[in-house]
Amino acid sequence: MKPRVIRSRAGISGEVRILLVGFGFMGKMHAAVYRQLRGVSLAGVVDPRIQETKKHLRSMQMDAPVFRDLESAKSVPCHAVDICLPTDMHAPAVAWAAGHGKHIFCEKPIALNLAQAGKMIQQVKRAGVHFQVGHCIRFWPEYQALEKFIASGRGGRLLSLSLQRRAARPQYSQQDWLNGSRRSGGAALDLHIHDTDFVHHLLGKPRSVQSIGTQDRTGWSHIFTHYDYPSVAVTAEGGWNYPTGWGFQMAFQAVFTGGTMEFDSRLNPSLSVVLGEGKKQAWPFSSPKAGRAQGAGGNVSSLGGYHNELASFVQSLRSGCKPKVATGSQAAESLATVLAEIKSAQTRQAVKIPSRGF
Ligand SMILES: NC(=O)c1ccc[n+]([C@@H]2O[C@H](COP(=O)([O-])OP(=O)(O)OC[C@H]3O[C@@H](n4cnc5c(N)ncnc54)[C@H](O)[C@@H]3O)[C@@H](O)[C@H]2O)c1
Repeated sequence: MKPRVIRSRAGISGEVRILLVGFGFMGKMHAAVYRQLRGVSLAGVVDPRIQETKKHLRSMQMDAPVFRDLESAKSVPCHAVDICLPTDMHAPAVAWAAGHGKHIFCEKPIALNLAQAGKMIQQVKRAGVHFQVGHCIRFWPEYQALEKFIASGRGGRLLSLSLQRRAARPQYSQQDWLNGSRRSGGAALDLHIHDTDFVHHLLGKPRSVQSIGTQDRTGWSHIFTHYDYPSVAVTAEGGWNYPTGWGFQMAFQAVFTGGTMEFDSRLNPSLSVVLGEGKKQAWPFSSPKAGRAQGAGGNVSSLGGYHNELASFVQSLRSGCKPKVATGSQAAESLATVLAEIKSAQTRQAVKIPSRGF
């Protein structure tokens, strides 16, 4: 029996009901955001760790039925399915949700390979549902501040951009799936893709990439890439092979003809600007919710980007207009570029990025 679809082309006017699939690190983070979004509720949570999931929901003062698998949840009335499963499980879950006419939010990376990603995009298109992928850096307040700063022209023309994402090896994932390159794609695909995707968002696709990196049992554990653009020098580095006690850092430095903007998640204030010959000054930016994700744990400093991306997805459901930022096609293009980066690191040759889209 197919579940009841509650959807209208004009958008959803009442409460938006979400079926959250996977209640690990990211699932808890998303639940914490939904708890804060007005007019949004959890229709159910799917995770085989039923008792732990129920206990954690209670600790977050959230109430929702918990199901062992998607099939057991098929009769739950909901508008959208939010997929926070290990990456190798994204494709079947998207197929299930599209097959049941549900709108879809799926965590990044969209998939492990382009054939899978292309199939998912086709399934979503056929179903006519909304599809957004969790490329949260497009929505992260400090990165949005950079986007606005570039557009404002206040620093002049952007000359160079350098981005870093560094972490201790992930210790927390269920059955250690993150440390299995066949399940997660390693640090290049799981972690560094955030910066590749943001570079696409700002500047479009590069003409080619040239990468070097280091490998271990988890695949490409640290990757360094130069992205070839006609008029901006762009590099990004992402690795999770730092010692356990090292923690996490995301950062960027943007140099303009008349200034700089810098971000470092380890500093407070995290974002600063130098204009002309002036002094370094903290740069204000709007963040929807300061403070730690309640009940989510982990080392991510604020709900900012997660809040913004899910608020944007919910808004797309209310308006009936499909998401324009972090779409399935954009996510597949970022995947294609990271796969080209891995190929470049393997061959030590520059790799061209095909102009074809998804
Ligand atoms: N956007 C970000 O910043 C960010 C950060 C971390 C993870 N992620 C992504 O989020 C996704 C999930 O990662 P995570 O860190 O939450 O992993 P996790 O290991 O913490 O959680 C995965 C959860 O899925 C559950 N699960 C396993 N099989 C299931 C099934 N058949 N049905 C339902 N639930 C099942 C597990 O029990 C676990 O609770 C991955 O794609 C990852 O790349 C994104």
